[in-house]
Amino acid sequence: MTTSVAQVAPPTSAPPAPEIILRTQNLTKRFGARMAVSDLSLEARRGDVFALLGPNGSGKTTTLRMLLGLIWPTSGAISIFGGDFASESWRAKALRRIGAVVEQPTFYPYLNARENLGGVATFAGLRDTPESRARIEWAIAQVGLAGRTQDAYRKYSLGMKQRLGIAAALLTDPELVILDEPTNGLDPAGISEVRTLISRLAQRGVTVLLSSHLLAEVQQVCTRVAIIQSGRLIAQGAVEELLSASRGILLGFAQPDGALRAAQALHAANLSWAPQGSYIRTDPLRPGDWQLLISAPPERATDLNALLVGVGVTPAEVRRYETSLEQYFLALTGGAVGASMAPAYRLGAAPGADTRADSDAPTMPSAPAAAPGTTPSDTQGGQA
Ligand SMILES: Nc1ncnc2c1ncn2[C@@H]1O[C@H](COP(=O)(O)OP(=O)(O)OP(=O)(O)O)[C@@H](O)[C@H]1O
Ligand SMILES: [Mg+2]
Repeated sequence: MTTSVAQVAPPTSAPPAPEIILRTQNLTKRFGARMAVSDLSLEARRGDVFALLGPNGSGKTTTLRMLLGLIWPTSGAISIFGGDFASESWRAKALRRIGAVVEQPTFYPYLNARENLGGVATFAGLRDTPESRARIEWAIAQVGLAGRTQDAYRKYSLGMKQRLGIAAALLTDPELVILDEPTNGLDPAGISEVRTLISRLAQRGVTVLLSSHLLAEVQQVCTRVAIIQSGRLIAQGAVEELLSASRGILLGFAQPDGALRAAQALHAANLSWAPQGSYIRTDPLRPGDWQLLISAPPERATDLNALLVGVGVTPAEVRRYETSLEQYFLALTGGAVGASMAPAYRLGAAPGADTRADSDAPTMPSAPAAAPGTTPSDTQGGQA
């Protein structure tokens, strides 16, 4: 990893592109009739904290298991550290450079952290040398278990067990660490500890690939995300890039017909700077919550307002809209219990056509009836 010759780049050269550590192309896994992962193409670069995000059953663990050679893809290709993972010799080499916690690691309940890690080191092919023992102490310190090395594993809390699993994954000083739901089952303090640990690994130049179904728990540490649903990729990119795509102008109306008429007016105006919009449903629905999110530059808010007022549609509210990554995630995946916002209607086709963002979402005129906690008779306002 170190070199004795200083390498000086010519002053005019562009910064080198980050090394691609992991790439999948059309990765697919079928279990009988069930398509668990479908045409998944991912790319993680050196130093990324890459989060594979998706609801339960979306194919995260299946993907990670394929990346570790625990199961074989039905089709598609995996390249890790620049080599073809299907090649047995490359796979063996690559796996030595990877540390992973994908399946619940098994530790001996009556042995302590140091003894358990000694066993893992032996299985990993490390001989009992002063270096390997120092390595165990280092891994214990990395995960913050130094004060509890005398305790038997069975006395550990869930968070401590999780951290010992990560320590085991670090024993071989991996360049790539793969963690399946590292914050699963942890309390807020445990989640924060795991996040700190991941940040520390990233600062050391380790590439981290993790999965989660709870974006809020990992968004502070991840640099890139891939959002999957039902085994398919629905978005991938740098966190900042993804969020900038969902910035826009939010129009609020007191009645649902206002939102619908605005949608129709914008569709008819066919504005190049406002190519699409989506109806936003807030849960629970409150009066005045009929909202349209227009994907337009925020500085166009005045133009947008003028256009609508010109056709007799007056928004109760016009404001800049920026979503959190969690809202973006929930919107893309169709939301979950507690979803704060979900797109339910998209401009861009003739109003009334089924241009819904997802199959469960209502079209705009009937949106009130579908808002959780409401029934058609609960909703206010007529339908246009
Ligand atoms: N060995 C298997 N045999 C049959 N079906 C499987 C197998 N493993 C996973 N599946 C199915 O593949 C789909 C994806 O499962 P997977 O465990 O990858 O999802 P996940 O995103 O990790 O979910 P969770 O968030 O609940 O961990 C699910 O429908 C699951 O039932
Ligand atoms: Mg899983």
